Amino acid sequence: MRLIIIGCGYIGRQLGARLASRGEPVIGVVRSEASAVLLAPLGIQARRVDLPTDVPDALETAGADVFHLAPPPAEGSTDPVTARLVETFGEHGQPRRVVYVGTTGVYGDCAGAWVDESRAPEPVAERSLRRWDAEERLRTWSRETGGELVILRVAGIYACDRLPLARIRSGQPVVSLDEAPWSNRIHAEDLVEVCLAAMGRAPSGSVYNVCDGHPSTMTDYFLRIAEAAGLAPPPQIPLARAPGQVSAGMLSYLRESRRLSNRKLIDELGVQLRYPTLADGLRGCFGDDSRQA
Ligand SMILES: NC(=O)c1ccc[n+]([C@@H]2O[C@H](COP(=O)([O-])OP(=O)(O)OC[C@H]3O[C@@H](n4cnc5c(N)ncnc54)[C@H](OP(=O)(O)O)[C@@H]3O)[C@@H](O)[C@H]2O)c1
Repeated sequence: MRLIIIGCGYIGRQLGARLASRGEPVIGVVRSEASAVLLAPLGIQARRVDLPTDVPDALETAGADVFHLAPPPAEGSTDPVTARLVETFGEHGQPRRVVYVGTTGVYGDCAGAWVDESRAPEPVAERSLRRWDAEERLRTWSRETGGELVILRVAGIYACDRLPLARIRSGQPVVSLDEAPWSNRIHAEDLVEVCLAAMGRAPSGSVYNVCDGHPSTMTDYFLRIAEAAGLAPPPQIPLARAPGQVSAGMLSYLRESRRLSNRKLIDELGVQLRYPTLADGLRGCFGDDSRQA
């Protein structure tokens, strides 16, 4: 089986290492030399391709299992990376299956409601429009070629080496706990398991929310991490003062609130999360000494 990881970065490396450890040849596509050199020690064969500008003449996609983790560019409302990838399939051969790692932003603001995969997406932020465009292009590809497709709508990814400790140490403020919108998370290790399950056994055409099923607010997230790490809690400010005091990216997240259900992921795909709560995840980082998060 030919295994290709398009966008073989932080998650792709963990996924690729798992696949390579089974003795399966894995190709990891990245843009930069700095990212490429990280792959060989993990048993992943690196290919440097900058979708959409490069022509990937050596990407044997025919019959392959393709994990697509490359993000869209930072601007615009469409995803030329996915557009080029689909063209590449036409040029080099159709994959057997594509597992796409997208985002939960496609649902837009849900005013704090619980959201499962039956909810009609209403993306508003440009970053979410790009993700919706990617989903739509892949659905069209699947419909037109018969290629199998599984879409993962992934919540905020965290892991021990991916906690916002620097931000907390810098003393940047967060929105007050009672005004902060709902947000959702998934531990990186669990996301890797979900990717494997999606490729291995999800029915084609499926969409899954990928989250731990225990939403809280971004403020709660920062406060719990600070406590577990023994750092001073970040100062809280009223939501109305956020525009002048938090980054544009953070502001865009503060405009949306939703609680994501992972019931389909657990009940239908049969994934057993290693870190079903933030408390479990932080215990894995800081040991049993960390307070209950
Ligand atoms: N951060 C979150 O909480 C979150 C939540 C939901 C979904 N996601 C998405 O999940 C995916 C995996 O996340 P991650 O943390 O593993 O991301 P990451 O570490 O940034 O890795 C992305 C990889 O994609 C490659 N890439 C980017 N643009 C490319 C292009 N035009 N052509 C070819 N390769 C390209 C990068 O290569 P170079 O390093 O060489 O540039 C990098 O290897 C990403 O799409 C991310 O946006 C993230």
